[in-house]
Amino acid sequence: MQDSWTTSVAQHGPRRDALETALRSAIRDGRLAPGSRLPSTRALALDLGIARGTVVEAYAQLRAEGYLGARRGAGTWVADLGLSIAPSVPRARPAAPSPRFDFHPGQPDLSAFPRAAWAAALRRGLRAAADSTLGYGDPRGRPELREELALYLTRARGAVADPERVVLCCGFRHGLSLVGRALRTERATRMAIEEPCAPPHRAAAAASGLRLVPLAVDERGARTDLLGELRADAVVLGPAHQYPLGVVLQPDRRAAAVEWARATGGVIVEDDYDAELRYDRQPVGALQALAPEHVAYGGTASKTLVPGLRLGWLLLPPRLLEPVLALREVEDVHVPATDQIAFTELLRSGAYERHVRRMRTRYRARRVRLVRMLAERVPAVTPEGAAAGLRVLLDLPGSGPTARELCELASERSLALYEVAGRNAVLVGYGALPEYDAEAGLRALTDLLATVYAS
Ligand SMILES: Cc1ncc(COP(=O)(O)O)c(C=O)c1O
Repeated sequence: MQDSWTTSVAQHGPRRDALETALRSAIRDGRLAPGSRLPSTRALALDLGIARGTVVEAYAQLRAEGYLGARRGAGTWVADLGLSIAPSVPRARPAAPSPRFDFHPGQPDLSAFPRAAWAAALRRGLRAAADSTLGYGDPRGRPELREELALYLTRARGAVADPERVVLCCGFRHGLSLVGRALRTERATRMAIEEPCAPPHRAAAAASGLRLVPLAVDERGARTDLLGELRADAVVLGPAHQYPLGVVLQPDRRAAAVEWARATGGVIVEDDYDAELRYDRQPVGALQALAPEHVAYGGTASKTLVPGLRLGWLLLPPRLLEPVLALREVEDVHVPATDQIAFTELLRSGAYERHVRRMRTRYRARRVRLVRMLAERVPAVTPEGAAAGLRVLLDLPGSGPTARELCELASERSLALYEVAGRNAVLVGYGALPEYDAEAGLRALTDLLATVYAS
């Protein structure tokens, strides 16, 4: 037993730090059980070929931390910390091999993250930033960033954007959770949510303590004309590009949502996650502009940059600002200062919008290619939804395999496709492939579909 931790000390070098680390982890994971007697400092020093003083100091440190007990004449032993020997964190299962082509519907091309531009923006921003920028800041985010974002949202999304009402957050899911909980503090109880919708968003909304009421979606968008019947205090909508159906909220439905909010004092949570990526026309402007006093607008860098940044923003109606900031104060204060610094510079220099334009061209080309290949090789499968975003919904013919069966067939060829709940359809995220693999991936997909639906 003792051998295993002394070997680990030897591997890490004969230093006091290494000895302490090896002892701590041997005690924590049970290799040294409570009550086990440790060798004398002299014997251990000899064993390890290190100075006795080093062992004395390491034992003293671990005694001070409560790992060891000692009494003159009785030696040194492992204290009982009341730790369970079984590791408290389940060991990770071996990862399933990743598919050759993963058509994840919500993932952008991660290989396209503008690493050089981000690094340059961070360097430039940090050089210029006052020390105070690195302290506890405004829970909404830095004023310069909110200013830049407000300009961007006005320019690109037609939003009515007052920097005082912008709140940086960790992506839309976080924003939705903040708004949901803020609504609860205002005594709201019911939130309507599109059905179908992104499951994590349903979970985030439910976790905020609101009762969820499903709102149907058809080919003209969410049935906002039915909102009056639902007795909801708020509704979550994806007007620019509904997930997963890909439909755009039509003008009369936009008007109905606004009318409902004005008449009832209800709040519309606008999920504007990929509106910049429209390929056949200018994107429709943000719904927020029609009723800034009633819409909690949420944007994100998860599709335009990468989801791993966990960077998003809210544009809030006045009544929700204070409750949301109160939540920030007790949980995370604000998003990390260095990310804010880099993003401010990216926006200010125009590099963000250049990147979005480049990605729009790239994704549009992929979508056009996929739709053309399908028309030529698999006419039985019809792409649905607006020419927008990172994915397409494919409605499957009733005569062939079900969506689940098709996903299994795809998996046998190392392709990952995604089922749509409640519909015989799959989602194909053409945006997720790295550029160098996009053509091969689209070909592998259409090969599979052509085989399955050969007439
Ligand atoms: C419908 C929808 N909205 C928003 C997002 C972005 O979420 P987040 O900003 O939390 O990454 C996603 C991501 O998949 C999404 O599917």
